[in-house]
Amino acid sequence: MTIPDLTARGAGVAPGLPVSDPGLPVSAPGLPTSAAEPPTTAAPGAGSLPQLQPPGFSPESARQDIPILHRTVNGHPLVWLDNGATTQKPRQVIEALGAFYGTANSNIHRGAHTMAREATQMYEAGRAAVAGFLGAGSPDDIVFVRGTTEAINLVAQSWGRANLGPGDDILVAVLEHHSDIVPWQLIAKETRARVVPIPLTPEGAIDQDAYADLLSSRTQLVAVSHASNVLGTVPPVKEMTALAHRYGAKVLVDGAQAVAHFPVDVTDLDADFYAFSGHKLFAPTGIGALYAKPEILESMGPWQGGGNMIESVDFTRTTFAPVPHLLEAGTGHISGVVGLLAALNWFTSFDRNSVAAYETSLMTYAQQALSTVPGLDVLGSAPERIAVLTFTLAGHDPAGIADWLDRDGIAIRAGHHCAQPALAHYGLESAARASLALYNTSEEVDQLVASLRRLQEAPETAG
Ligand code: ALA
Repeated sequence: MTIPDLTARGAGVAPGLPVSDPGLPVSAPGLPTSAAEPPTTAAPGAGSLPQLQPPGFSPESARQDIPILHRTVNGHPLVWLDNGATTQKPRQVIEALGAFYGTANSNIHRGAHTMAREATQMYEAGRAAVAGFLGAGSPDDIVFVRGTTEAINLVAQSWGRANLGPGDDILVAVLEHHSDIVPWQLIAKETRARVVPIPLTPEGAIDQDAYADLLSSRTQLVAVSHASNVLGTVPPVKEMTALAHRYGAKVLVDGAQAVAHFPVDVTDLDADFYAFSGHKLFAPTGIGALYAKPEILESMGPWQGGGNMIESVDFTRTTFAPVPHLLEAGTGHISGVVGLLAALNWFTSFDRNSVAAYETSLMTYAQQALSTVPGLDVLGSAPERIAVLTFTLAGHDPAGIADWLDRDGIAIRAGHHCAQPALAHYGLESAARASLALYNTSEEVDQLVASLRRLQEAPETAG
């Protein structure tokens, strides 16, 4: 088995899968029929906006691969602006799942038969692909998990239990997702360590002066997102990591919102841990990955017991498999890894820097377009950010805004976004959020803005 070439445009089927498989149909019973591409009606008031200049990337090249973007919702072409919650899947991923279950299903790492060997090769090819995608030194540095949440809980329960004690500090940025706060609170309670919040500036950036002041010889771990799911902030993770290392602290980076938006290199970041979820990266739900530096991974003990993670078991003594298998008890999400591999092949077929530049220009366009909506305020204005636009609209609650937009086929998220401390920083309990991906267009932004303007003109009908 060769490591997949992530620089080539993927054929959509994981290495090792039979190529004759027809794959899953892309339309399922009960799903609405296809719709034409969204009309390009500009939002009222948006006519003076600068034209988007896609530098070397066309969103159409991604859209054409994604069947769901061609359905209708409530009689309108779908406008999917809930990418922070989950991304839509290219047909290459959908077909790889169908091909796996149609022709190649087997458990892995056990069973002396051809199918088990093939499934094992695919699973390990997925691990190698994740390592290549993250810039890790070896596939052995990658642990498969359900997603970012499980990755952080794994680190807290395995590394944290062994390395935290009374008087130790875990520094956690206020903009973190609950999944990067609560696991630390749980292990801190058990080990009598402290979770210490790193405050934000009014712009929603991490206060770097406060961070420097909080670091001390007590600091064992810094937990920081590579991109905030509610403010879009991209903190200076490399610099923060270098500073933490001066105090001997480890750094865990939550990459859930970052990996689909800009290239990541864990070796360059010098991150000790890096976690992401497949479903926010065009792959299926229920699969994700944790990277850890090899010397740290080697030092970690099991956090769950079961099959696959042992060498031998009897009632007097159990010996364990080496990492990363030690940390993967039970049957893994084999089809999830097949789907993740297909997603990585698909996503890395685009020039990543061009995708990032396109998304930045789309975000600038969206910020300017949204500023034309009376009473709309976007949260956060950190200088480095991804295209996550969380906002309030005077006179309307977030749930009402989402409901109104849904009637126009526009999907956004409303609520606390699993980041209540970040919203509390702005005195809010809830907000609306549009989160963009590479397949979104300026026309879709125009539709969002036009619908919001109609809501402001007809306030009695919603929210
Ligand atoms: N963490 C996901 C979000 O931000 C679910 O929506």
